[in-house]
Order: sequence, then structure tokens, then C-alpha cells
Amino acid sequence: MDWGMKNRLSQIIKPETGHTVMLAVDHGYFLGPTHKLENARKTIEPLLPWADALMLTRGILRTSVDPDVSIPIVLRVSGGTSIIGENLSQESITTSIEEAIRLNVSAVALSIFVGTEFEHQTLTNLAYLVDEAQSVGIPVLAVTAVGKELEKRDVRFLALSCRIAAELGASFVKTYYCEEFEKIAESCPVPLVIAGGPKLETELDALKMANDAIQKGAIGVDMGRNIWQSPHPVPMIKAVRAVVHDGVKPEDALEIFEKDKK
Ligand code: 5RP
Repeated sequence: MDWGMKNRLSQIIKPETGHTVMLAVDHGYFLGPTHKLENARKTIEPLLPWADALMLTRGILRTSVDPDVSIPIVLRVSGGTSIIGENLSQESITTSIEEAIRLNVSAVALSIFVGTEFEHQTLTNLAYLVDEAQSVGIPVLAVTAVGKELEKRDVRFLALSCRIAAELGASFVKTYYCEEFEKIAESCPVPLVIAGGPKLETELDALKMANDAIQKGAIGVDMGRNIWQSPHPVPMIKAVRAVVHDGVKPEDALEIFEKDKK
């Protein structure tokens, strides 16, 4: 791997632990003003000291994050659909690699929609982006999207999607946690991070999911709603860090959360 690519990846995946806590705040690119992300700056700013990287679009980066902040950026470069449109899977590349360089990002992220009408389009988007990004040393994060079909999040579908993403050249892959997650990790030759998905009932549920994913081969999380839709987002991200970076048990991480929220 080229020096620039390695350097950018190590900004995101911390060499001290080999793990990462990425903060996902890109939801508005198809959901609009998502609950608790209506004012993105207000949500993002208090969490910055605890996040290893920030995943977002160029619009929220330019408007809601100061350029003197030192945090690796994972720039979402796919989109072109909305939650009220006809087909969430019809994504295109929405941001050029020149723009990614201009914004000094550490990686670019794009969704693939395997098994949908737009499978071919989104997979060739990925292959094209890998060619473009590779030529300037920028890693690509492929996101195995499921659109509105949340029930698709099972081991067969996700293992297939993750493996295809790796075959097409993604440097790392973001997927969902599911039963038998170890099978996804075993058959995916690049690092995996998990999305949190919709807000779970309790903080402990989210901490357990992060822990299970790490135990079964993920190198980290790229979590959004389970952090910033918590009534106490800063204690929550600290607890997630304890699980991901320090191997703290979920129940002990919950104590960190409970103490910190006081
Ligand atoms: C949308 C995304 C989101 O960043 C992702 O779903 C992570 O956020 P959350 O933990 O809220 O699910 O990639 O396609």
C-alpha cells in the first residue's frame, strides 16, 4: 500500500489499538433534517474530542465544522436520492475526487445497494471511485446499504455485499452487525466497521452491539443515531470508546456512561 493511503487510513484506524470510533453524521444526505441532527454544528461540536473520524457530506462539512478542527474526515460522495423519492438505491457519485482533495479528507465513502434494481450502477460507481481515489492515495469506504429494507441485515446478504465491496477495491467496509457476524469478518479481506442503525432501546443495547462486533472481527464502529440521539451524547461516545478501544465490557462501559452523565 502506498504511503499516502497508509497514512490516511492510520489517521482513521488508530495504530495504538487498531480500532476506530467514527462518528456518522451524514444522514441528512437522504433523510433531510434527521432528529437531533437538525442543527448539525450543535450536535457535532461537543462530540469532536471523542471521535476518531467524522463521516459527513461536503455541505455539512463546509457549513458546520470549522476548518481549524483537527479531525480526519470521511467524506460521503454518493447520493442523489431521498427518503420520499421512488428508489433509494439509485445513487450516483455526487462529489468529485478533486473536491475531496480540496477538503483534505482522509477517506471517501460511497453506498452500494446489492440485490436491488441499481446494483450494477452502485457497484460500478464503487469501482470507478476506487480508481479515482487510488490514483491520489485516498482510501474508499464502501457502505453496504439496505435502504428501507432493514430486514435484509442478515449474514448471507451482508457477507455477500461486504465481499463484493472488497473485491471491487474498497479499503474498508461499513456494514451492519448481525447474528454470525464472524462469518462476514472471515470472508471479507479488508477491515470492517459497523453502523449503529436506528436508535436501540437502551444505551446498554448499543454498547453490547459494539462489543459483539469487535469480539467477532470488526475493527470499530461508524455510529450515528445511537450516540447523538442518546439524551447524553458525550457520555455515550465515551462509553463506546471504552468498549472499542479499551476492551471494556458493555456493563462496565454503561457505568462510565452513568457516572459521566451526572
Ligand atoms: C447512511 C449511513 C450512516 O452514516 C449510517 O447508517 C451510520 O449511522 P447510524 O449509526 O445512525 O446507522 O451510512 O447510509
